[in-house]
Amino acid sequence: MDHFHYLNGELCCEGVSLRAIADSAGTPAYVYSKAALLENLAAYDRAFASVPHLVCYAVKANSNLGVLATLARAGAGADIVSGGELHRALRAGVPPQKITFAGVGKTREEMREALKAEILVFNVESASELAALNETAQASGVRAPVAVRVNPGVDSDTHPYIATGMKTAKFGIPIAEAVRVYEEAAGMPGISVIGVQMHIGSQLTKTSPFADAVARLAELVLTLRTVGIDVRLVDVGGGLGIQYKDEVPPSPDAYASVLLPALRPLGVVVLLEPGRSIVGNAGVLVTRALYRRVSAEKTFVIVDAGMNDLIRPALYGAYHEIRPVLEAGRRRPGETVDVVGPICESGDFLARDRELPRVEEDDLLAVMSSGAYGFAMASNYNARPRAAEILVDDRRYTIVRRRETYEDLVAGESLP
Ligand code: LLP
Repeated sequence: MDHFHYLNGELCCEGVSLRAIADSAGTPAYVYSKAALLENLAAYDRAFASVPHLVCYAVKANSNLGVLATLARAGAGADIVSGGELHRALRAGVPPQKITFAGVGKTREEMREALKAEILVFNVESASELAALNETAQASGVRAPVAVRVNPGVDSDTHPYIATGMKTAKFGIPIAEAVRVYEEAAGMPGISVIGVQMHIGSQLTKTSPFADAVARLAELVLTLRTVGIDVRLVDVGGGLGIQYKDEVPPSPDAYASVLLPALRPLGVVVLLEPGRSIVGNAGVLVTRALYRRVSAEKTFVIVDAGMNDLIRPALYGAYHEIRPVLEAGRRRPGETVDVVGPICESGDFLARDRELPRVEEDDLLAVMSSGAYGFAMASNYNARPRAAEILVDDRRYTIVRRRETYEDLVAGESLP
């Protein structure tokens, strides 16, 4: 169900008007729907109910403590990629036994922190990292639980910056070398081999790459068993796409029906690392139009959110639907505009050559499907304080991150 809809002439998140939020919390502001978060999580749990499984929400998509705590209370674990994400996940109440640690560049310090927290598993991405983890664990007098991230060598048909499963990607150990690495790992005193992991890319809208990759993974698990290495946990990563425009991504059910025939016979615990499909459509970015600028070639609508707030259009050419917050705005005559931010770069746009009902100065706009990789990728570029984040629960809302102040901008700096 869509939790962003027009009600009494105003675009609402659940039972709260985005206009009311903008009036009190200001703009730009990210607004998230708690019901949408929980429904998206529940859809995975239902789809994989027939096997032992754990949804480890990919914290990188949206690491706000309010979002993390909401998901953690509903039973989700966390997929983290840094010591900072470990800190956030623990702070939000994610049990360490539900945390999986991925990433090609874990430092020894981060390894020590995660070992101390006694997380569920480290996803190891290279032989060098394995050696470092072995040493670090031994020095701490423990064994590190490890899943090897294998690169199944499939083409996942998504934006090249977010495809990770092809042979040329920096991620994971090529599947052909995996058995050798497992044998090495099995002989290490600081390592306890428990699983295998993959992640082939993000915003995938077809099931076939998942099917290809999981078949290769299942074959590897069987091969490992023949050499006495018993893998009990299979982590299939994240990557399920969402609808931004006219994509028709598979549902969690369709996704499960592709994965489970390969996974069920293995008798393993299935780990899932969805990010975007949990938070993407659960959030919008609310922004206010500041000015119109009409030239002979183009009409620009200049808004108060920039590429520092939402970088996806600039970085990936991503499409985000833009809706007027006041329903009356939808009935205005259409025009083709660029919706741009205040940042001093031509790449600072939220939409280009977009057909929109005429936007007037001071109008509020909602940039849809911004819950994933929106605030999480925001910066202070141009010394812009980062936006507020708001979590709506039915008719109430909480400011789960206040807007940054100028003092926040300079905190931590000092004069020489
Ligand atoms: N697991 C691993 C190991 C990952 O690298 C990722 C995402 C995920 C899980 C979660 O994938 P998801 O379910 O969200 O697709 N900033 C880009 C997306 C980068 C994704 C990086 N890895 C964007 O805005 O599209």
